[in-house]
Amino acid sequence: MCGIYGCVGTKNAVASAIAGLQKLEYRGYDSAGIAYINGKNKIEIVKALGNVENLKNQVNEKVFSRLSIAHTRWATHGKTTIENCHPHFSENFVLVHNGIIENFEELKNEINEKTYSETDSEIIVKLIEKIYKNFSNNSMENDKKILFSIKKATEKMKGSWAVILLCKNNPKKMFVFKNKSPLILATNNKESIVASDINAINGDEKSKFKYFNLNDFNIAEISENNIKIYDKNLKKIKLKEIKKQCEIINLNNNYKHKMIKEINEIPFAICETKKRIKNKDFKKLISQMPSFSQITIVGCGTAYHAGLYGKYIFEKYLGVNVNVELASEYRYKTQIKNENELVIAISQSGETADTLAAIEIAKKKGAKTAVITNVCSSTITRMCDYVILTHAGTEVAVAATKSYITQILALYLLAYKTINKRISKNIGQVAKTIIDLYDYNFFKSFEKMQKFFFIGRLCDSASAQEASLKLKEIAYVHSEGYPAGELKHGTLSLVDDNSLVVAIITQKSVLEKTLNAVHEVRARGAKVIVLSQFDNEIKNENLFKLPKANEDIMPLFSILPLQLFAYNFSLSKGLNPDMPKNLAKSVTVE
Ligand code: G6P
Repeated sequence: MCGIYGCVGTKNAVASAIAGLQKLEYRGYDSAGIAYINGKNKIEIVKALGNVENLKNQVNEKVFSRLSIAHTRWATHGKTTIENCHPHFSENFVLVHNGIIENFEELKNEINEKTYSETDSEIIVKLIEKIYKNFSNNSMENDKKILFSIKKATEKMKGSWAVILLCKNNPKKMFVFKNKSPLILATNNKESIVASDINAINGDEKSKFKYFNLNDFNIAEISENNIKIYDKNLKKIKLKEIKKQCEIINLNNNYKHKMIKEINEIPFAICETKKRIKNKDFKKLISQMPSFSQITIVGCGTAYHAGLYGKYIFEKYLGVNVNVELASEYRYKTQIKNENELVIAISQSGETADTLAAIEIAKKKGAKTAVITNVCSSTITRMCDYVILTHAGTEVAVAATKSYITQILALYLLAYKTINKRISKNIGQVAKTIIDLYDYNFFKSFEKMQKFFFIGRLCDSASAQEASLKLKEIAYVHSEGYPAGELKHGTLSLVDDNSLVVAIITQKSVLEKTLNAVHEVRARGAKVIVLSQFDNEIKNENLFKLPKANEDIMPLFSILPLQLFAYNFSLSKGLNPDMPKNLAKSVTVE
């Protein structure tokens, strides 16, 4: 959550930071701000409420500046006000921060000074200031004083942070430090950029950049032509270069929203993932799969729903017991040690705080760990024994679409390859057929309903939960996703003639059972839509006919019309589906 960006040595540092922030906007869009060094070596700060476009309208992008730091906010501490908007400042320092300082109340008491905002980030800058002032009579160089102040401040801070700091007394440098929150450094030795996400990095001569991950408690001191990296004891160190994500799908930008662009990229994302997933770790993992006696899958939101599919496909074909856990629960629950356990994290971004914490716990208890992720430079890839990459391309709309489908594909491929079963052909083509078949008119008349229920059994119940989440996320309607058999254990009491029930039926073995639930809800006045490939068996229903394909991969397809429905529903309510209120894509705080 929150995106930060800093650049030095850039010809036009303000424009570069604004362009970077626009690419980081998926991380938060409550307010945005920038601090830059002007032609007189002074720090200027501009802040705006709302999204980056508002900030862009308030700054002069052509102003002379070769160093700037910027921030796009997802509010954690304090409402969306200009005071709470970053950059935050003290007498000598200015900073932008992504993360949460958990002991900020304690530190605030320690600083014992009036604050202008409600944020934890202001406390960091004030803490650094206080420590820095203690060095005022010291003959140490200013840079050293700053480094020591950062070191001492971070020793007191608890929580997560990625910070870019400027000092008025040294306006040619930025100081960067982190713990848990992501931060990438790119440099060509003249120009250097730091950002929360590798894809946000612009630059005058981007092609010459080398990329690095800053490690927790490292401090980077960055000026034009020079970068020094220190470890937590302020000993100079070198960072290991990382590869930039090789592919970014950029088929067509003529879409009104990122979400619809990303849905249209699904057929290509499927083909890419199918073709390119087989890296060394994938092969190693499929050879090891039969040796695990317990598999646990952890994830959040949409990734958790993909995990539910993982349980279905692994238990069906590998005969192994699979638990699926919400990462936010798993990290705090009583852990039971299993011999030969594999813990698989699923995370599009590879940065979700709860998922990272779950993997940390799994490692501590001695389990083998794997991750299915879409971002090869993400933090989680450095933690897990096996890294399985989906190749969905960059996904920035808050509502996950193509990443979910490629996560399901990865799980299907893992299961099928482990037992050497033949992989279905033309998966990408089938997805394309569904996108073409989709007709909004089929769904539109149901938008006036007040309650929405999605039901299914086995892997269709995972799809039902995901479809419901999509609707809540971007159309702001109350909905429930349920295993069909559970309805009558409580939720059926809510079903009435103001309800739409969408039944997903892609598994022949439970077709009749789910149809029973359809009859039961209709008897209570609900309107019903059925999504299924079984048109011969399902008569007299409002049927969205899915193409016929291998049942095991039907969850890749059945979710597609429902993603599109959520998108259209959001538009018809005049909402922006890319930026749902209160949410952000990369949840890097607890
Ligand atoms: C947020 C996003 C969801 C995503 C979830 C997990 O809630 O809005 O789209 O499913 O985080 O994110 P991850 O990057 O770990 O898959």
